[in-house]
Amino acid sequence: MEGRRALVRVDFNVPVRDGVVTDDTRIRAALPTIRRLKDLGSRVVILSHLGRPSGGGPELNYSLRPVSRTLETLLGSPVTFIEDPVQADAIRTTRQMPRGAVALVENTRFQPGEETNDAATAERFAALGDFFVNDAFGSAHRAHASTEGVAHLLKPAVAGLLMERELEYLGGVLAHPDRPFVAVLGGVKISGKIEVIRNLLPLVDHVLVGGAMAATFFRAKGAGTGASLVEEDRVELAAELLARAADKIVLPDGAVVAEALDRSDARREVAWDALPDGWAMYDIDRPTCERFAAIITGAKTVVWNGPMGVFETPPFDEGTAAIARAMADATAAGAVTVVGGGDSVAAIAELGLADRVSHVSTGGGASLEFLEGRVLPGVAALDRRVA
Ligand code: 3PG
Repeated sequence: MEGRRALVRVDFNVPVRDGVVTDDTRIRAALPTIRRLKDLGSRVVILSHLGRPSGGGPELNYSLRPVSRTLETLLGSPVTFIEDPVQADAIRTTRQMPRGAVALVENTRFQPGEETNDAATAERFAALGDFFVNDAFGSAHRAHASTEGVAHLLKPAVAGLLMERELEYLGGVLAHPDRPFVAVLGGVKISGKIEVIRNLLPLVDHVLVGGAMAATFFRAKGAGTGASLVEEDRVELAAELLARAADKIVLPDGAVVAEALDRSDARREVAWDALPDGWAMYDIDRPTCERFAAIITGAKTVVWNGPMGVFETPPFDEGTAAIARAMADATAAGAVTVVGGGDSVAAIAELGLADRVSHVSTGGGASLEFLEGRVLPGVAALDRRVA
């Protein structure tokens, strides 16, 4: 790899406010791959998207320049910024960089052909490297020119260290879990998790269901759900799932309810079938926290995706915090624990417990699609074996 140009796709889709990166987790996560390539003497050329620009050209709000500054700080060495990968001097820059130097290319989504996986766009990206490393697990569910197209053009096309870790953990728990294997699913909508539930049900011993989506299950069991969010068009499906796997699906015993999110002063805990009219469920109740925590700490493999309540609005964060602590306890007791999905990842980070679980995925949509059992195009396009 010495002297060769490593084209590295990362997921630097990070929050930026007033020109400053406010959460550098995803940038830090890609550092091992970048450092390894630097140490090997490669010229490291990095591609990433940021946000969802219109795709019609540069937009200041979505520039990767602030990310470039953060990357420089984290690496402790300069990063060359390549403004326009299509210009001939971009290729020259990548060839003339010293060995071990790093360049970051401006937002891939400024190229009109990026999201359509246009062949000519993929070729332009490919011209910036001699081999391809995909470390962007968070973008692996997108078949874009910089994630999928380019992998067919540059060989070898291999997984980076972060990608490898993500696939090992997420793939490992699904392929050969130590038992008991427990999935903890939360969030607002059952519709976003149906495929995950379907894919996981045959594999797991228990699925613990929390979050607003539990209300759809309560309705399926014939209970009144007050003002809770219920997906009316999914009630039948929830009933079907319960009929098929009542022994595996564990629903909350009760809920924390309030008349409105800003009426936490008047919160109440009620049984699952006694949600008062006009009140909505905003969290799982304490007995459920204890029951779920006991199941999690008794497990050998746990996957968690989605908060148990409105965790960004205390006191409705208690259920989510209880799950996060149970995940840490299970890990300390030797379980393999994996957290995926933007909200649950944010929650565990906020609680300071991210380094007390086995793996926190950098993929939101990607980890969900992985748990749904779907093929991620950015992974499928990589070489199976490197000669
Ligand atoms: C993410 O943040 O989930 C990834 O970076 C993908 O972003 P996208 O949903 O805009 O494709």
